[in-house]
Amino acid sequence: MTQKVRVGILGASGYGGSGLIERLERHPHVELAALASRQFEGQPLATCWPQFAGLFEHTFQDHESVVEACEVLFYATPHGATAPLVKLAIDAGKNVIDLSADFRLTQNEYETWYGQTHPHPELLPLARYGLTELHREELPGTQLVANPGCNASAASLALAPLAANGLLGENVIAHVATGVSGAGRAPSLPFHFTEVTENVKPYKVAGTHRHTAEIEATLGRAKASGKRLETHRRTAGPVVSFNPHLVPMTRGILATCYTRPEKNLLDSERLLGIYREYYRGDPLIIVQDELPQTKAVYGSDRTILSVRYDARSQIVVAFAALDNLGKGAAGQAVQNFNVVNDFEETLGLQLEGVWP
Ligand SMILES: NC(=O)c1ccc[n+]([C@@H]2O[C@H](COP(=O)([O-])OP(=O)(O)OC[C@H]3O[C@@H](n4cnc5c(N)ncnc54)[C@H](OP(=O)(O)O)[C@@H]3O)[C@@H](O)[C@H]2O)c1
Repeated sequence: MTQKVRVGILGASGYGGSGLIERLERHPHVELAALASRQFEGQPLATCWPQFAGLFEHTFQDHESVVEACEVLFYATPHGATAPLVKLAIDAGKNVIDLSADFRLTQNEYETWYGQTHPHPELLPLARYGLTELHREELPGTQLVANPGCNASAASLALAPLAANGLLGENVIAHVATGVSGAGRAPSLPFHFTEVTENVKPYKVAGTHRHTAEIEATLGRAKASGKRLETHRRTAGPVVSFNPHLVPMTRGILATCYTRPEKNLLDSERLLGIYREYYRGDPLIIVQDELPQTKAVYGSDRTILSVRYDARSQIVVAFAALDNLGKGAAGQAVQNFNVVNDFEETLGLQLEGVWP
């Protein structure tokens, strides 16, 4: 029998943390050993997360105690604050899966898009970007996995088969509808119930959203090397106009992406065939004829994809639906943990969604 891995979570009082607790508690090869939160330090798990009352017993601790007690640390903490906490773990020889943006980009990209000096650029060479389906071969044995952003996961998964097959035009538009939990649990005015309900609003459009950098980098690499690629190799990709819209739902992302390839001898059937071939054998990806919808992945770690060719406009329209807290965060983090440790890729994960 495999010995259980002692795992800890920093940022366990946030939405990413909650999804990690759920998945790691049901993982057969994990002992969820310690949880960190500043707000709930010394308090029992159910004070913060009532859905776990009577199921799991934990008391929140400080960051240092959690790092010390565990072999693998998951970070569901904000960018900027995460890198110094990751350094504690790396210096102590521990392994890290980081859900924040601190290790997703090069130092230059990070400083350009996040407008701040990278706290620990010396750790960047250790990091591997883990959009699992594209980077699976690079992850085993990695000490520091940078888990992708939720919107970036959706748009990149929708567009990667086109990039790898030379079917992206020079420009790509990614229109993303995203649920409110994407902004995290801490309250703020734009995400107040009365601001969000019965309302759809664009935000950070026209080249201002930080996930643009991740999508462009991922598509550049997919274009250069097909499916199995080196995360640290940078190749110029297409220019992506990424335009997110906040919609009044708790979870979920629907990415609708547009590009006009140079080749115009396309049809939807052929494109679907290309997508099926690209994601053949990927247990969390469903390519289907029907258009995807967010409810089908609510609470699930799967991503549903489809694609159409609009022959009139000669535009390819690619779709992805995923749960921002599932494949977009905790689900992909545990998937990456499984790949790093050579465990079956879906252990601990939730495949079926919740409907209604
Ligand atoms: N929400 C999503 O859909 C999503 C998807 C992909 C990636 N992410 C990324 O995952 C990370 C967590 O997101 P989230 O949605 O879970 O956010 P969240 O609900 O706001 O939770 C953030 C957690 O970080 C802790 N925290 C806040 N400030 C901190 C600081 N300065 N130092 C240490 N800990 C701090 C908070 O706990 P205490 O205050 O109790 O310590 C809280 O538990 C973020 O980097 C986010 O960008 C989120």
